[in-house]
Amino acid sequence: MDYDRYDRIRAVQWQGDHLRLLDQRLLPQQERWIDCANAAQVTQAIKDLAVRGAPAIGIAAAWGVALAAKQGESLDAALSMLRAARPTAVNLMWALDRMMARIAAGADAAALEHEAKAIQDEDLLANRHMGQLGASLIAPHSGVLTHCNTGSLATAGYGTALGVIRAGVAAGRIEQVFAGETRPWQQGARLTMWELVRDGIPAKLIADSAASHLMKSGVIQWVIVGADRIAANGDTANKIGTYQLAIAARHHGVKFMVVAPSSTVDMATATGDDIEIELRDPAELLAVAGQRTVVEGADAWNPVFDVTPAELIDAIVTERGVIERPNAGVMQLMFLA
Ligand code: MRU
Repeated sequence: MDYDRYDRIRAVQWQGDHLRLLDQRLLPQQERWIDCANAAQVTQAIKDLAVRGAPAIGIAAAWGVALAAKQGESLDAALSMLRAARPTAVNLMWALDRMMARIAAGADAAALEHEAKAIQDEDLLANRHMGQLGASLIAPHSGVLTHCNTGSLATAGYGTALGVIRAGVAAGRIEQVFAGETRPWQQGARLTMWELVRDGIPAKLIADSAASHLMKSGVIQWVIVGADRIAANGDTANKIGTYQLAIAARHHGVKFMVVAPSSTVDMATATGDDIEIELRDPAELLAVAGQRTVVEGADAWNPVFDVTPAELIDAIVTERGVIERPNAGVMQLMFLA
């Protein structure tokens, strides 16, 4: 695998005394970095989506705790502030629990910095491994559709679903890549297309509403997405619009793959019904790039995740292995054994 070509973006960078984040609100027009010097600034960056994507949120939060320790801030306050930043992606809680365990074991600021770095490094390794596992499921000459942004920007590097696509393209298994816009925040249009163009991977953007039509055409064999939380029975929360892709995929005989590190698996949550779905400001729907597009006085409903039931998922790929046709039994074998 040519990682020099396919793994060059690092959106979360520890600088020794502050955390540098590539501001994802401004891409692709501007590549501007923001510097966070304390846990409150990291919390704000997560809330505002300057850093986003389940694994990246967890990594940033871990660095937020390391910063709090370095600044002599209250670690309890930092942990609870960071934990409340966003509700759906369990990687956030997972990373904070890991930092909390180190604090409980008496870790000092240097040890917490070490733990945050380990969380980041492990995520990159998991992504590279998942890339190989996921790509091996795809037959040569396939077409794929992805949703949201699951690439280097959303992780420590390389990506989850986008990592599988990178590996599949490099191995000659994937011939055509389609990315949905991912309204309203346009993670697909603004971020995934930016990553693919930087890698020189030919890809076509589609309107989210073109997905069923694309599947009917027979051009794609797989929908490949990431996850924000996978419940104990395999139900998967991911970016709004994922559920309707899974329904359409099953109808058209297109396979559906979820790619996520084990830090996204939440065995304490029994089913998708128990996952809190983040509701964001309706203003995100009523305007495009700050420009109001909907009549004044109109309201909107803006859930930013949905849950795909396990029975619509053909494969869940984590760094621990591939689960085909997930259910509570096989999930338990892989994640609780
Ligand atoms: O609201 P976002 O942009 O943080 O949502 C991101 C997603 O839904 C991704 O698909 C998911 O976090 C997986 S990222 C590897």
